[in-house]
Amino acid sequence: MLVTSLGHAGLQIEYQGTRLQMDPWLSPTGAFQASWFQWPDNSHLIDQLEMPHAVAISHEHLDHVDAWWLGRLPRVTPVYVPRYPLSTLREKVLASGQTNIREVEAWTDVEVLPGIQLFFVPERSPMNHDSAMVVRSQASVLLNANDARLCPLQLHEIRAKVGHIDLLALQGAGASWYPMVYQYSNEQKKRLSYRKRMAKFAYVVQAVRAAEPDLVLPFAGPPAFLDTELFHLNNEMKEGIFPDHEQVAAWMQGQGYNNVRFLFPGDQLDLRTRAIARDPHWENFSYAERDFYLSAYADRRRDQIAAVKAEFPNPDYDLWTSFNIYFEKLLTFSPYFNQRIGMKVGFEITGPGGFNGAVDFRDDSFGVSRDLNGIEYKYTFESRWLPAILDQRIPWEDFLLSCRIQAWREPDVYNDYLLGLLKFADPQALAAVEAWERTPRGEETIMVRSGARTFEVQRFCPHAGQDLLEVGEILPGDVIRCNGHHFEFDLVSGTCTNGKTEALTTHLASGTTSKRAAKVP
Ligand code: FES
Repeated sequence: MLVTSLGHAGLQIEYQGTRLQMDPWLSPTGAFQASWFQWPDNSHLIDQLEMPHAVAISHEHLDHVDAWWLGRLPRVTPVYVPRYPLSTLREKVLASGQTNIREVEAWTDVEVLPGIQLFFVPERSPMNHDSAMVVRSQASVLLNANDARLCPLQLHEIRAKVGHIDLLALQGAGASWYPMVYQYSNEQKKRLSYRKRMAKFAYVVQAVRAAEPDLVLPFAGPPAFLDTELFHLNNEMKEGIFPDHEQVAAWMQGQGYNNVRFLFPGDQLDLRTRAIARDPHWENFSYAERDFYLSAYADRRRDQIAAVKAEFPNPDYDLWTSFNIYFEKLLTFSPYFNQRIGMKVGFEITGPGGFNGAVDFRDDSFGVSRDLNGIEYKYTFESRWLPAILDQRIPWEDFLLSCRIQAWREPDVYNDYLLGLLKFADPQALAAVEAWERTPRGEETIMVRSGARTFEVQRFCPHAGQDLLEVGEILPGDVIRCNGHHFEFDLVSGTCTNGKTEALTTHLASGTTSKRAAKVP
């Protein structure tokens, strides 16, 4: 099995003369309203690549589902996608003109090429529409985890199903807008970015330990920001949330892992021999010359960026009425989400047609108003983007990922339900999350020791169900952190201290049993 990097999260599998492309992203206008671009530039592949016989797409983010590229492929090409509670991914593929879409249930094998099987493994909670893709021939297995944060249990399950993993490809630079768009001091931002980088590195190590692959391939990020308004975000590659492949590989090597490889777009790895054939295009490329390269790259994309922004002109009408209608409707979708958001959220829409408005999710003052008093969260952005958000041409999450927004919150606590409501904006998808979260998972407990005390806590994290026996970490001050998504819980009260999610079931136990040894079924 030959694995060719297509850049970013794109991989091509070649097997006995047939080709499968996974998450190919080659659009010359990048993604997320021309804010993200492929890093490094993979456009030399556009005219080199032969047509694939099949395509697989992991999830709905536009750096994975590229309508421009899919639109160039023959209409008979089968496009395999995981079945999610919401049809957003399917609709994004349909928008490319491709209609031969095969939705596949989790863990179900499909033969995507003669002799090549594929199955998808989604994250456990339907709050996160991310899936790993496992591709195998008789001789080799590729686990393409891309952006999916599978927990150790799932990685063990994959190993139990496939036996052995030759190559684990996973993300070393997450897709996020935090903390860059938040109103923190530069010093705070730097500290939070670095913390996020290290948390991602810790996840990579955890995943590698659980999957035990022969080789590890960091990929699926970072993006390049080429619009002059966003260019400063490239600094995140230095010490922030977007480490490049070389930095991830160097860090892993520092942890004793010598099986890390990285591929430039066009490089090819033979899974049988482990040999890498380098694309001569990169002979003179070095990440050390990143600033110079990025400036030249931005010059090459200037016209495309201007053309994309021109598709979103300043509105010549007042946007308040359509905003009001949109949120009054959204408030009817899920009392469960409304209650868990439980605060007033402000919107400062600047420019022509703009306004100050607020959406109050609290029971006693529920509704949409123009009053920003008492808000705990605020989003600020230009009015040119709002019409496309309200008529659903731009999903909220895509817009947040564009980083064309500023955010503020007080208290400084992440609210997963607010993002969930905005990104799904669909009663059925919200109901799926509610049903999953209401499914009792709290009966099984583990004992954890914090200082001199021992607590009995539920084994599976109340956020998205990861196994605290595997991903829990005890912090000073009687706190347990779930390294699934880094929510922290007070061991005494069970309250989540840095985010809005259900409390952990916990109580003080007697004895001094150690965490790992004393699982209490
Ligand atoms: S599963 Fe998300 S923080 Fe625990």
